[in-house]
Amino acid sequence: MRVLSGIQPTGRPHWGNFFGAIRQYIDLQIEHDGFYFIADLHALTTIRDAKSLRQNTLDAALDMLALGLDPDRATLFVQSRVPEVTELTWILMTSTPMGLLERCHAYKDKKAKGLVADAGLFTYPVLMAADILAYDSQVVPVGQDQVQHIEVCRDLAGSFNHEFGDTFVLPVAKTLEYGAKVPGTDGEKMSKSYNNTLPLFGDVKAIRKSIMKIVTDARPMEDAKAPETDHLFQLYRLFSNDLDVESMAQMYRHGGFGYGDVKKKVADASEAYFAEARAKRLDLEKNLDHVQTILDNGAKRAREVAAGVVARAKKACGLSA
Ligand code: ADP
Ligand code: TRP
Repeated sequence: MRVLSGIQPTGRPHWGNFFGAIRQYIDLQIEHDGFYFIADLHALTTIRDAKSLRQNTLDAALDMLALGLDPDRATLFVQSRVPEVTELTWILMTSTPMGLLERCHAYKDKKAKGLVADAGLFTYPVLMAADILAYDSQVVPVGQDQVQHIEVCRDLAGSFNHEFGDTFVLPVAKTLEYGAKVPGTDGEKMSKSYNNTLPLFGDVKAIRKSIMKIVTDARPMEDAKAPETDHLFQLYRLFSNDLDVESMAQMYRHGGFGYGDVKKKVADASEAYFAEARAKRLDLEKNLDHVQTILDNGAKRAREVAAGVVARAKKACGLSA
């Protein structure tokens, strides 16, 4: 089964990225044919500085490898190294209704805020559809916020298949029950754009400080609290086994505990959880040639697959004999 997903190199990865998306990549690479890429073409819609984009792209590769992406099992590559994908984007664009893109949240949110959107942001979901379709992807592991884009991809593939005959595989999104929408330090969805993230890598002390500042309600310690709706509890659950989760849930229901203790537990558990990845990242930083080789090999393999699929699409719609 072909599994594919991409992550934008727009800044340091956070717990939401890991528990929503990257953890699934790592799990799925064991039994499936994983294609994972760094979406630098998408990032170009927001990063307008060559040096930063180049550095972020390399950083994203280091992050994924440190977190356990295994280049002997999965294919890791940079999106822009497969130009067939941009060719396919145009082909799909010719069957994309404007209304479909107007309803997509990234564009809609920006417009609602009164910001000026460019054609890159507007057509972002078409490029994403091309990313998915170019590799005959069957399953796309993502966080909840990307599910709408995968629906768009299915719509576009369905229309093309209807008009020109069976060409594309229709993918399905895969989200995790407890990782689909990881809350940030303010209780809203954790996101690089909301300044509420807890990063995977970086200064441990600073991360600990951010954890201790997680916003909680002001009810007295004695009060019983509902664990299901508490975002600190949701973060605790990410790092704990079923038994610990259940006893923490009981503590919430009884009351009489301080949020500070829960925060300390979250800090300790997260530090232990990411310790190995942190060490691995430091090693990889010393061996950047090796990382480049992984990306070169990945791009070669990805291009081979995309070239075949795009040739099929061109033939179907009359762009080649
Ligand atoms: P961000 O919103 O921080 O910019 P990205 O858009 O780069 O994150 O998302 C990369 C991947 O991580 C996507 O699959 C996305 O769905 C997932 N993701 C991002 N934030 C969260 C979150 N808070 N909870 C779960 N998954 C998330
Ligand atoms: N839009 C995704 C995000 O912001 C990144 C992405 C680009 C992607 N192309 C993709 C994800 C294809 C899955 C499949 O997170």
